[in-house]
Amino acid sequence: MADTDFMPLDGWDHIELWVGNAKQATFWYEHALGFDRVAYGGPETGLRDRASYVLEQGEIRLVLTSGLRSDSEIVRFAAKHGDAAKDVALQVPDVSAAYRTAVERGARSVAEPRWEEDEHGRVELATIATYGENVHTFVNRADYAGPYLPGFVSLSPNGHAGDDVGLIAIDHVVGNVELGKMNEWVEFYERVFGMTNIVHFGDDQIQTEYSALMSKVMADGAGKIKFPINEPAEGKRKSQIDEYLEFSEGPGVQHIALQSSSIVQTIETLKGRGVIFLDTPETYYDDVQGRVGEIDEDYDDLKRLRILADRDEDGYLLQIFTKTAQDRPTLFFEVIERHGATTFGEGNFKALFESIEREQALRGNL
Ligand code: FE2
Repeated sequence: MADTDFMPLDGWDHIELWVGNAKQATFWYEHALGFDRVAYGGPETGLRDRASYVLEQGEIRLVLTSGLRSDSEIVRFAAKHGDAAKDVALQVPDVSAAYRTAVERGARSVAEPRWEEDEHGRVELATIATYGENVHTFVNRADYAGPYLPGFVSLSPNGHAGDDVGLIAIDHVVGNVELGKMNEWVEFYERVFGMTNIVHFGDDQIQTEYSALMSKVMADGAGKIKFPINEPAEGKRKSQIDEYLEFSEGPGVQHIALQSSSIVQTIETLKGRGVIFLDTPETYYDDVQGRVGEIDEDYDDLKRLRILADRDEDGYLLQIFTKTAQDRPTLFFEVIERHGATTFGEGNFKALFESIEREQALRGNL
């Protein structure tokens, strides 16, 4: 624990996505994924250059932002990378201390510590850079009672929005970086955040007939914040990470994993609303019960909904992955329900990657 004392993290604050059309994207997150829109910031509230919608479900907070003019940094980002995560913001007890420590330890500054105030109180914010054009904003909102940040107004939940689907928290956020860069970013999270590498997969473990990748999972001392980092590895054909890097035009967030309190119900509802998930071959279900053993759920439900299961020494987990959330083969979402298991479904990687590769082949990118 001593290693992590220099950078205490209280948890996730929010993930902000910079997108081409936040107004329409928000509709999908509300009506398909079950989020409530709770706050808005834009020209009407004094933010001249953007429109920004704050969405919540359980403890998850997503922010969708579009720029309003072609010279906007947000518009340029979304044009280059497609709709993508920009900021994985973290709550810290002391923003100035977190920022100072991060910069002293080699992080690049994006925005220095500042207090923002309105009638609801004050928030301290500061931002550092990570891989690609992504950033981490440090947030301390202990003295703030507003809906999100100064510059935003509360919205009463839209009466036409879908009910929530049982998503409760952010589990992990995965980054894809270039060939040979994984260890550089692993070292960044060790040095700047005091994180440790809790899981490592080599290309011998994550390999299909065609492509391979390597992955290391970085976690903070409390185990709340988990950042897996992937890089492509040599395979017979183009790795799915290479496809991501090509269409994202650089490193970025590959997937955001959201915990469900009841994944069978969550996926039943999401599929009923038309959310499209990766398929899993029928044969996966021939031996899953033998591999994972007794679980609370009915294996028939898992098979019907194409939910994956895996077990580690601490328990089991259930998971499923959406197809990419925009036309570019870049960002997607994972829904995960943990029953003690602390790992990431390694037993499912082969099935998952083969499923992704079928999609990749359809796009002519394999
Ligand atoms: Fe994941």
